[in-house]
Amino acid sequence: MTGIRVRPATLADTAAVTAIHCSHVQTWRRGGKGEEAPYEDLPLYDRWLHGGPWMSVETCAVHLNRWLRASHPVLVAEVEGRVVGEAEFVVNPEPLPYGPALHLSLLFVHADHRGRGVGRALVEAGAALAREHGWAVLTTQPEREAEPFYRRVGFEPWLYLREWQAPAVEGEIQAEPAHHAPYPIDAGVVLRAGRYQCGRQAWDDLPFHLALAEHQRLRWGRWRVSLPNGGAAWLGLHAQPLNPSQADGFVWAPPEADLGPLVEALQHLAARLGFAYVDLLLEEPEGRDLARARGFEPQNDLTLWRREA
Ligand SMILES: CC(C)(COP(=O)(O)OP(=O)(O)OC[C@H]1O[C@@H](n2cnc3c(N)ncnc32)[C@H](O)[C@@H]1OP(=O)(O)O)[C@@H](O)C(=O)NCCC(=O)NCCS
Repeated sequence: MTGIRVRPATLADTAAVTAIHCSHVQTWRRGGKGEEAPYEDLPLYDRWLHGGPWMSVETCAVHLNRWLRASHPVLVAEVEGRVVGEAEFVVNPEPLPYGPALHLSLLFVHADHRGRGVGRALVEAGAALAREHGWAVLTTQPEREAEPFYRRVGFEPWLYLREWQAPAVEGEIQAEPAHHAPYPIDAGVVLRAGRYQCGRQAWDDLPFHLALAEHQRLRWGRWRVSLPNGGAAWLGLHAQPLNPSQADGFVWAPPEADLGPLVEALQHLAARLGFAYVDLLLEEPEGRDLARARGFEPQNDLTLWRREA
């Protein structure tokens, strides 16, 4: 479709971005799943439960501000001067085969403007941005319902992952807190467990950034561990907001590092923080052997997609 203008977003687009995301919610409910209630009557946390920080200008502004300050690209699409689509990207510096790539982290088109080429225009603008910076690849993690769209715009399935539930286990571990450490860009690490989105985004998203009291109560942490060969790996835990006795677990490690001891270290850290379980998203098929040997319970599966930029 002609008449679509794609440009970098600014914080001044917050209200329009919130409107795009809210346009996909049919019914607003207390506590996310309780009785119906007008949007205006819902506290910020209840709105967040309908789809994340984009659901209120107050939380969307915090999220966009963080994203823009980290120099992660955000694009918006305008039709007749109105912002009707939004795409958020992360510059993922992981070594091959995961990066360096531009990761499309989120793409939403206003419900009233779907099916008119806005989503495609945002993807193509992202690909152009990637080419400009010399990144050959765009990656993404689509929702199941959006997979046909991603196929139409040139993506194909790339990595298959499965989530496994591991019990927290008491044990000794040598790990140095690195909760606020910057992303270890020169350490040659890749995200070996917990590949939600991409290695850089999982790192940046680990702390709970929204200033909502409900999130501040949740435990999270990041630690550095030394590897036997002299290198380093980083472990992360992040409480699941809707099930806070469970954590999502993350391991950033060199591709050749033995993952088994790092997963066990994560189970010890989970016990130390008082979690009952840690969920580990592992790449298939290697992750399956590791998880089955330890009796972990299989959970959801997930596919990451990619296309040439
Ligand atoms: C998915 C979404 C971003 C697509 O944006 P859009 O502007 O509606 O898509 P476009 O009009 O640019 O469509 C591009 C192509 O994909 C096709 N397409 C779009 N949605 C499709 C679907 N659900 N099934 C099959 N094909 C689809 C279009 O027919 C079009 O094909 P063509 O250009 O070859 O004719 C939009 O529908 C949306 O915001 N959905 C809700 C949020 C969401 O699911 N986001 C993705 C999360 S990962």
